[in-house]
Amino acid sequence: VAPVGAREAWVEDVVPLPHGELRVLRPPDADALITEEAFDHEEFLPYWASLWPSAVALARELSSRHLRGARTLELGCGLGLPSIAAAQAGGRVTASDWSPEAVAATRENAALNGVSLEALVCAWADPAPLVERGPWRLLLASDVLYEPRNGEQLLGLLPHLLGERTELLLADPDRPPSAGFLEPARAGFEVRSTVLSERPRVTLHRLRRR
Ligand SMILES: C[S@@+](CC[C@H](N)C(=O)[O-])C[C@H]1O[C@@H](n2cnc3c(N)ncnc32)[C@H](O)[C@@H]1O
Repeated sequence: VAPVGAREAWVEDVVPLPHGELRVLRPPDADALITEEAFDHEEFLPYWASLWPSAVALARELSSRHLRGARTLELGCGLGLPSIAAAQAGGRVTASDWSPEAVAATRENAALNGVSLEALVCAWADPAPLVERGPWRLLLASDVLYEPRNGEQLLGLLPHLLGERTELLLADPDRPPSAGFLEPARAGFEVRSTVLSERPRVTLHRLRRR
């Protein structure tokens, strides 16, 4: 993996939310982190290092909720913004990503905003740490359906994370591979979709088991 650069060189974004603002540190240029090794191993691609519009939209949605201690898991947390918003809203949050750098950045961003959460390195193909800690009341994911295999893996993983009343909040910029998750998911889940933002386009899909 390319060195992510000195933390002093990282950029701080300020994200306004209805009840205040959050601060997010990220590397200045995600593209500069791409290496030959990253092309060979998809888990090394630095998608985690950008703050994607879906994360901002999901954080905004969470900030107006009262999570009252709800056990909350974020999948593919990247820089950790939705997890931080969920912790601020009162959730007991675990953030997870297969990239150790994403998990380290999430821990730093949580500290920067004065919230406490757990952050774990975990790939969906090897999810024991997430399953052991379940079942979860709330599952979060933003912009994680960008390759067909992501949707396939999530469909296989979800049943192992769910309790009786688990809700999944999935923020997505309508990338074509998301249909490969949502269509089969409708067999087992009630799916309610709302457009959160037009430009850039972000849709929130709320899933509950039938
Ligand atoms: C497009 S980025 C979105 C990051 C963040 N959720 C956001 O919206 O800003 C996708 C994230 O999913 C993570 N990811 C992709 N496939 C994964 C897998 N199989 N297991 C765990 N994390 C994964 C990536 O490392 C990356 O952080």
